[in-house]
Amino acid sequence: MSPETVFVAGATGLVGKPLLRRLVDRGHHVRALVRNDPSATMVLTMGAEPILGDLSTPGPWQDHLGDCTSVIDASQARPRGRLTARRATAAGRDRVRFTQNLLTAIRNGHASLGSYVWLTGLDELVPTAERWVDEGSPLALRPHGFARIGSQIRPVVEAAHQTWGLPLVSLHMGLIYGPEGWFPDYLRRIQRRRFAMVGDGQNFVSLVSVHDVARAIVAAVERRPAGERFVVVDDEPVRQAEFVRFVADRLGVSAPRRKVPLWLAGLVVGRAAAETAAADVRAHNRRMKSELGVTLEFPSYREGVPPLVAEYLASASGVRPAGS
Ligand SMILES: NC(=O)c1ccc[n+]([C@@H]2O[C@H](COP(=O)([O-])OP(=O)(O)OC[C@H]3O[C@@H](n4cnc5c(N)ncnc54)[C@H](OP(=O)(O)O)[C@@H]3O)[C@@H](O)[C@H]2O)c1
Repeated sequence: MSPETVFVAGATGLVGKPLLRRLVDRGHHVRALVRNDPSATMVLTMGAEPILGDLSTPGPWQDHLGDCTSVIDASQARPRGRLTARRATAAGRDRVRFTQNLLTAIRNGHASLGSYVWLTGLDELVPTAERWVDEGSPLALRPHGFARIGSQIRPVVEAAHQTWGLPLVSLHMGLIYGPEGWFPDYLRRIQRRRFAMVGDGQNFVSLVSVHDVARAIVAAVERRPAGERFVVVDDEPVRQAEFVRFVADRLGVSAPRRKVPLWLAGLVVGRAAAETAAADVRAHNRRMKSELGVTLEFPSYREGVPPLVAEYLASASGVRPAGS
């Protein structure tokens, strides 16, 4: 494997940080786009080269894309407050601008580019009657949940792939759990008995640890499967109610029983967030394993969640978990 020069947008996010670590560990040279000096210092200590810039504005940061052999877009426009359908659509428009600024910079000298990896979710895919999805699933015509964001970016990157040969790799992620993002707040709400399930809790959720997401992205960088898409999930889709029970048990509290209908959850967390929480989908990861060669570090939530809960409980009590 020859080392790649990788430009990472979204380097400071939930996915970005473990991704940076894995890329550096694998010997790649990483340019990490950051928006301020503290973030620049952070990525520098992680072994990456900081590039100051904002995806929404063209600028000197774009000069650092021309000679890259891989570009990863792990950015997300962060809407303030509840993720209503309107805010998700607006976040999608922001992401389109981010994407256009990335593509403009790449197109001016993309001869060396081996892969452009972008991340979307499972909400874009239409499940079978048994609720399964895979890479062959049709794309939803009417976007719901977080697909209100991804479905706006897809036509832009696919047009670039078709018209000028952008080496596009699309990754459809399950719900990503890790030490940041939605999961710590999920733990807090269950622990403080402020949690309510969306719907009857019998829907399947397809999860994936952020560390396995980093593995899948790095595999895509190294294998360069241009024009392909992959579903990135763990081995074990789980019913929402069962997952909540497992998490509550690890936290040492009784399992929440409260259930709220989708419309009511929409009023509390926003329609788009509620739709994703209530989505009923079981995703296959066969292709990720066979063609990207990914071996999961956390084959299911049973292995992935306990260390995060231990870390969460330790930080709440001020004691670090053993071995951390
Ligand atoms: N989380 C999930 O469950 C999930 C599921 C499916 C797909 N995905 C996809 O995975 C990707 C990463 O998600 P995430 O959860 O890691 O996102 P995240 O934690 O919200 O991180 C967003 C990243 O984007 C950066 N960013 C935002 N606006 C920017 C701008 N104007 N210029 C430069 N950088 C900007 C942020 O930088 P700052 O630190 O400066 O704000 C941060 O590094 C996204 O594309 C998302 O659609 C996520």
